[in-house]
Order: sequence, then structure tokens, then C-alpha cells
Amino acid sequence: MQTVLVASSKGGAGKTTLATHLAAQFALDGKRTVPDPQGSSTRWCQRRAALDSAVLPIDGSRRN
Ligand SMILES: Nc1ncnc2c1ncn2[C@@H]1O[C@H](COP(=O)(O)OP(=O)(O)O)[C@@H](O)[C@H]1O
Ligand SMILES: [Mg+2]
Repeated sequence: MQTVLVASSKGGAGKTTLATHLAAQFALDGKRTVPDPQGSSTRWCQRRAALDSAVLPIDGSRRN
């Protein structure tokens, strides 16, 4: 499994936005994608759940 890390120490730099869009493009390419254990892009993912480019969000507040 290849891992893509989007990192910056600064808040509001666009990490969540970039990671979510990368995940959506990978999904369009037929890859299984899961972004954002922090949960910031969960609503974005939920609104697009029926699309071919759907991205599965993870609830990072749960241990398992
Ligand atoms: N390339 C961009 N152009 C314009 N606005 C952007 C861009 N990337 C992110 N934003 C906006 O900046 C804000 C912070 O982005 P976000 O991805 O939540 O940052 P982070 O995860 O690093 O805290 C959001 O309102 C987002 O819509
Ligand atoms: Mg974020």
C-alpha cells in the first residue's frame, strides 16, 4: 500500500482540501481511498457518497 502524507505545521494551509481532492482523484482511477482521520472532510465525503469517485471517511475519534 502506498501512503501519501500531506503535512504542514500551519493550520488553514489546505492540507484537508488537498488530501480530499487527491483521494477523490485516486477513487476515480479505481483505487480504494480513505482520507482524514481528523474528520474535517467527512461532510464533503458524505455528500458525494453515491458518486463513482466516492471517498470513505474515517471517524478518527474512535479507537478501532
Ligand atoms: N487552493 C485553495 N484555494 C483557495 N482556498 C483554499 C485552497 N485550499 C484550501 N482552501 C480553503 O482554505 C481553508 C482551510 O483549508 P483546509 O484544507 O481546511 O486547511 P488545513 O486542513 O490545512 O487546516 C478552507 O476554507 C479551504 O476551503
Ligand atoms: Mg485539516
